[in-house]
Amino acid sequence: MSVALVTGANRGIGLELTRQLIAAGGRVLAVCRQPSEELKASGASIIEGVELTEPSGIDRLVAAVNEPIDRLINNAGLLSKESLDELDLGAIRRQFEINAVAPLAVTQALLERLAPAAKVAVITSRMGSLADNTSGSRYGYRMSKAAANMMAVSLSRDLAPRGIAVAILHPGFVRTGMTGFNGYIDPQEAAEGLLARLEEAIAGEEPVFRHANGTLLPW
Ligand SMILES: NC(=O)c1ccc[n+]([C@@H]2O[C@H](COP(=O)([O-])OP(=O)(O)OC[C@H]3O[C@@H](n4cnc5c(N)ncnc54)[C@H](OP(=O)(O)O)[C@@H]3O)[C@@H](O)[C@H]2O)c1
Repeated sequence: MSVALVTGANRGIGLELTRQLIAAGGRVLAVCRQPSEELKASGASIIEGVELTEPSGIDRLVAAVNEPIDRLINNAGLLSKESLDELDLGAIRRQFEINAVAPLAVTQALLERLAPAAKVAVITSRMGSLADNTSGSRYGYRMSKAAANMMAVSLSRDLAPRGIAVAILHPGFVRTGMTGFNGYIDPQEAAEGLLARLEEAIAGEEPVFRHANGTLLPW
């Protein structure tokens, strides 16, 4: 049975990824701070109390994983809305911690637990694309997701010799808590696309940035 680990699994896209992986016959290690009722009902093996921006959270996560992981999905993220007029530097730093530093910390900490031919997803955002930034603002989110993209390209280079593929993915504009439930698609559609794209990722291939619908995005 394929084993996946999903961060931010208690709600939004992470919850839906968890549900779909289980529906496909897999086992999911669902990582969260606090499990939701929906997550408890999903059949996932829940690893709770994991604050991903704290070393103690990463330690707690690693201690709870004692089986090879076939799919690692770094999904947890945070969006704040700083404009130039209302800069909150603390919020910008918090977004860096969770959006860019935590997926690297999680992947590095779990390296020895990744199965041969495992695949790693980094869920970033097209808001981290330099070329696609035509509207400005959103400093912390844009900066941290651009950093996440760079981190994921390095990961894909560094993990290729181990046969591990890294998929760098934008889920779409999705109706979740992050967007105030505005968006073009539901988490179900986003999760379907993300899982399909993750399966297509091949170790050692030139890294690309993809929308869950398969479209290639500019860096
Ligand atoms: N929704 C969109 O349109 C959209 C677009 C582009 C990219 N994305 C990306 O897709 C991913 C999932 O987003 P979503 O829409 O599902 O967001 P969401 O509904 O707001 O869920 C965010 C998840 O991240 C977790 N999280 C946040 N900070 C954390 C921390 N410090 N430690 C542990 N967990 C933390 C949250 O846990 P708590 O419940 O404990 O806060 C929650 O499970 C994110 O990386 C996001 O940036 C989303």
